[in-house]
Amino acid sequence: MYDIVIIGTGPGGYVAAIRAAQLGLKVACIDKSEVGGTCLNVGCIPSKSLLDSSLKHHQLINDFHQHGIQASKVSFDLNKMMSRKQDVINQLTDGVGALFKSNKIEFIRGIAKIKSNNEVEVTLDKDIKTLEAKNIIIATGSTPIELEDMRFDQNIVDSEGALKFDQVPKELVVIGAGVIGLELGSVWSRLGSNVTLLEAQSEFLPMLDKRMSRQIYREFENQGLKIVLGSKIREIQKEKDQLKLSYLSKEKEFTISAEKIIVAVGRKPNTEGLFDQDLINTNEKGHIQVNEFCQTTIKDIWAIGDAVRGPMLAHKASEEGLMVVERIKGKETSIEYNHIPNVIYTHPEVAWVGSTEQELKDNGIDFKTGSFPFLASGRALASGETSGSVQIVADSNTDEILGIQVFGPSASEILQQGLIAMDNGITSEEFSKSIFSHPTVSEALLEATLAMNGKAIHVQNRKMRK
Ligand code: NAI
Repeated sequence: MYDIVIIGTGPGGYVAAIRAAQLGLKVACIDKSEVGGTCLNVGCIPSKSLLDSSLKHHQLINDFHQHGIQASKVSFDLNKMMSRKQDVINQLTDGVGALFKSNKIEFIRGIAKIKSNNEVEVTLDKDIKTLEAKNIIIATGSTPIELEDMRFDQNIVDSEGALKFDQVPKELVVIGAGVIGLELGSVWSRLGSNVTLLEAQSEFLPMLDKRMSRQIYREFENQGLKIVLGSKIREIQKEKDQLKLSYLSKEKEFTISAEKIIVAVGRKPNTEGLFDQDLINTNEKGHIQVNEFCQTTIKDIWAIGDAVRGPMLAHKASEEGLMVVERIKGKETSIEYNHIPNVIYTHPEVAWVGSTEQELKDNGIDFKTGSFPFLASGRALASGETSGSVQIVADSNTDEILGIQVFGPSASEILQQGLIAMDNGITSEEFSKSIFSHPTVSEALLEATLAMNGKAIHVQNRKMRK
């Protein structure tokens, strides 16, 4: 009898397994494929590898001349980029395998099905075995959503297929200008594709404040990404190696040809065949129903990560894994869901956490705001990375920091500093007492915080807005 059987070895499952082993629990982890899940094998890690490779190439051609560096006859080897990406994946998945061994976590390959509150059946080819467990954690992740009239094939691909093109498509269409669309659109645009993103919603990145999303839209358009908002796909025709796509935008019909189409319209939870419908409840989107502690309607069965409500993010899955294991062990761990950071790894990066101004307005919360443009940051100017800004909101009465949005150099790292303040209840006044090294791009966060309290040094303070 295992203390915990975990289904899935992505950042939700493998992190939960390691913490369980640290807490002295007997744990097995089941997966039908390699350890590491989507994140390590076909998601976060390979996409970041290609984002970094393509950025270096792009900067060498487009940006380095500002620094007086001339480069001629620049070329790139796509095969080499892809094999480097694979090396990075292998190194990390081998690392997880080694951690399993050193923590004495049993890895079982096969397809899992939950038979009851303490039985999991694992099938590998013709071999079927049943594991008994005091607790079961479902960490099966998600898969890309396929559009009805646009089935995946060689040329119409999901995010995984888009990380494996064997040549750079001349014309590339991306359906959906969300996180994946923007990241993968950037990769191929930097390597030479003409990229058009067709987005159904009329608002760009609606989870951000409008001032912020407008800045980002302008910057990406300047980078050469064509983003068509409020577009509706009409039909697709396949002609030899070309795809002809017609779409409606502002009530006019347009046709566009492309060699490849990336469909990035969201992901759906992987729960098919995992349990009988009368055992565990799912909602209309297929998410497993859980309480705030990731416990399903069955007390000993837990579900975490993309399989349940909330943002589909690796670090959210990991945190939930840690919380569940610690709760199984009797601790009272919980998660502050409003403090989960989000990042889009474009260049510059987009990073945000907490509430937007609109959300605060809608909830009748009295707030103050501060912002600081990277154009006024000495360090950003020195490195030639002046696009974007930091925006921060805090409660007018308590000075509690309620939300941060960053678009600019090292946005993900800058955001994290503010998030530590938020997690620890450090007010904006207290935060701005920290001494920041000069010159650093992090000073933009300090200055935005100072600006919120009418004390910015490197920009004109405006009358405090409410
Ligand atoms: P998403 O939800 O971020 O974006 C999908 C976009 O497609 C939305 O803007 C939506 O309006 C649009 N859309 C939906 N149907 C459409 C249609 N028929 N025509 C045109 N547009 C349509 O989903 P995405 O980018 O697929 O990512 C999936 C999940 O993976 C997200 O939850 C995301 O947060 C996560 N992810 C996170 C990453 C990160 O943290 N950097 C990287 C990659 C994925």
